[in-house]
Formats: sequence, C-alpha cells, structure tokens
Amino acid sequence: MSQEGLFPDSAAAGQLKNDVKEKRSSVSRVGVVVTGVLGGSLVALYAVAAPFLATALRKVCLPFVPATTAQVENVLGSLRARSGTLVDIGSGDGRIVIAAAKHGFQASGFELNPWLVWYSRYKAMREGVHRSTSFHISDLWKVSFAQYSNVVIFGVPQMMDQLELKLASELPSTAKVVACRFPFPTWVPEHTAGEGIDTVWVYDAKTFKSHLQHRMATPDSHT
Ligand SMILES: C[S@@+](CC[C@H](N)C(=O)[O-])C[C@H]1O[C@@H](n2cnc3c(N)ncnc32)[C@H](O)[C@@H]1O
Repeated sequence: MSQEGLFPDSAAAGQLKNDVKEKRSSVSRVGVVVTGVLGGSLVALYAVAAPFLATALRKVCLPFVPATTAQVENVLGSLRARSGTLVDIGSGDGRIVIAAAKHGFQASGFELNPWLVWYSRYKAMREGVHRSTSFHISDLWKVSFAQYSNVVIFGVPQMMDQLELKLASELPSTAKVVACRFPFPTWVPEHTAGEGIDTVWVYDAKTFKSHLQHRMATPDSHT
C-alpha cells in the first residue's frame, strides 16, 4: 500500500502546502508586475513632466502656453506681405512654425522642451511641411537669430527687455519682429493687430536698431 493510502491526512497536508506555495509565488509574481508597471509609469510620467517643469522653474519662467487660433492668424496677417525665413522663439508645439510654412515661409522653431520639438517634427511631417520647417532643441539665449528676416516671440514681460537688446544687436535691418500677447518695453511698434490676449505688435528692425545705436551713443540721456 502507498504512503498516501497509509497516511491520507499527511498526503492532503502536503497537497495543501504545495497549493499555498504556488499561490504565494503567483501572488508575489503579481506583486512584481504591479510594482514594475507602477514604477515604470512613474518614471515615464517624470520623464514627460520634467522638461515642462524645468522651463517653468527657470530664472525667467516661460511656460508652454500655446498661441490661440486668432493669435496665429494675427501673426500671419501681419506678415502677409513678407517672405523668406521666419523663426518662432520658444516654438512650443510648432503651431506658428507649421502655419508659417503653409504660407510659404522657410520656418524654424527653437524650443527648450525636447518633447515639444519631437511632437512639432511629427506634426510637420503629418501636415506635409517637413521640408520647409526645422525644429531645434535649444535655449533661446544661446543661439543667434541673425539669419532670420521674420521673428515671432510669444514671451513673458520679464524677458522682453533682455530680448530687445539681443534682437537689436543680432537682426538685419530688413527684419520684422512680431510680439504676441506682451509687447517689447521700449520699441515703438509700426502697427498692432487683434485685441485682448490675441494682440500682436509688429516692429521694424530699421527703427529699433537705430534707437539702440542712439541709446549707445548717448547713454546718459536714457538713465
Ligand atoms: C508661451 S509658449 C509659446 C509657444 C509657441 N510659440 C506658441 O505661440 O504657440 C513659450 C515656449 O517657450 C519655451 N521656452 C521656455 N524657455 C525657453 C528657452 N530658454 N529657450 C527656448 N524655449 C524656451 C517653452 O517651453 C514654451 O514652449
């Protein structure tokens, strides 16, 4: 007679032990999978959110706030008589660059957040304007905009005085600059378009460059 036949209770106890062991190991497998999925999701969430937080936490906080449809129309309406190169400084999800390319510009965007740059490139490809657009992962303060004849900026008031000096020293005198939502502090616009949050201010480089030269020539009269 087999041992199970002699000791039926011990056979059942052994089976029970095995069942418990199996259950424990499958529970711990589920635990590992759940921890892995949770951990992976948190890492992915952090990877996506970190560049957005990083731009918001810089000395000058310039967060991602996309231009409204009216704002984009005001920008392109103001530049309707123009052509050539265009740059959107802090290009976000690429909407201004892509719309400009559809209007015939060779359009570029400079943006700190890599996710937004990758998304912009994907959108430009999908909308058939990848040949007339380019997107760069760059800090706006570390690149020169000297090669652009049309410049668009949707900035914040805290950065506009510093950007005035940068653009006045870099741009050719044939350039036009369009500021969205917030104007430059000392430049005099040649015209404005739209109203409220959709307002854009258009500046002529010849004018602001000559103002800068005048300021540098007579520094005391501007203190
Ligand atoms: C107000 S949003 C404007 C987005 C886009 N131009 C539009 O009108 O839809 C400003 C953008 O500038 C980017 N940004 C912030 N600091 C930057 C920097 N130092 N260099 C480049 N881009 C920057 C932000 O990530 C954000 O996408």
